Amino acid sequence: MERTFIMLKPDAVQRGLVGEVINRFEKKGLKLVGMKLIQVDRALAEEHYAEHRGKGFFEPTVSYIMSSPVVAMVWEGKNGVALARELMGATNPANANPGSIRGMYGMDISRNVIHGSDSVASAEREIALYFRPEELADYVKAGEEWLS
Ligand code: PPS
Repeated sequence: MERTFIMLKPDAVQRGLVGEVINRFEKKGLKLVGMKLIQVDRALAEEHYAEHRGKGFFEPTVSYIMSSPVVAMVWEGKNGVALARELMGATNPANANPGSIRGMYGMDISRNVIHGSDSVASAEREIALYFRPEELADYVKAGEEWLS
């Protein structure tokens, strides 16, 4: 089982897409193990996007992520990191599969609805940035036995 960090970005919250996106993750069979609505501050935003520091889109991305509350979540499942990336679609909604979340709801790379970890290592880093260990639930979900 793998855990991945997912964030519903400011545009998702403001456009009322939170329930829609969570629904897709639930229906796929991933298990929600952590979730909170938070206002990201500058220190956290800069840490999150640290690998992009120095790029032209760094400051706009940091400002955007601070512009409204976001929903931070941790989802768990078999190949959870890659599976979530498939559900999300390509970073640039213009290139995303039309059935994916970004393909259906996104218009622009700078407002692409959702963030998901790109590797298991990134997931571990991002989960630790947003959640304390005791904020993550360890439980058996009814119906789990039908997913493998
Ligand atoms: S890249 O192109 O490999 O650096 O992209 P990636 O690592 O997948 O994610 C880049 C994140 O920055 C956001 N962003 C942009 N990326 C590229 N170009 C522009 N102009 C841009 N503007 C914003 C992009 O949405 C990615 O955010 P996350 O939250 O990681 O999906």
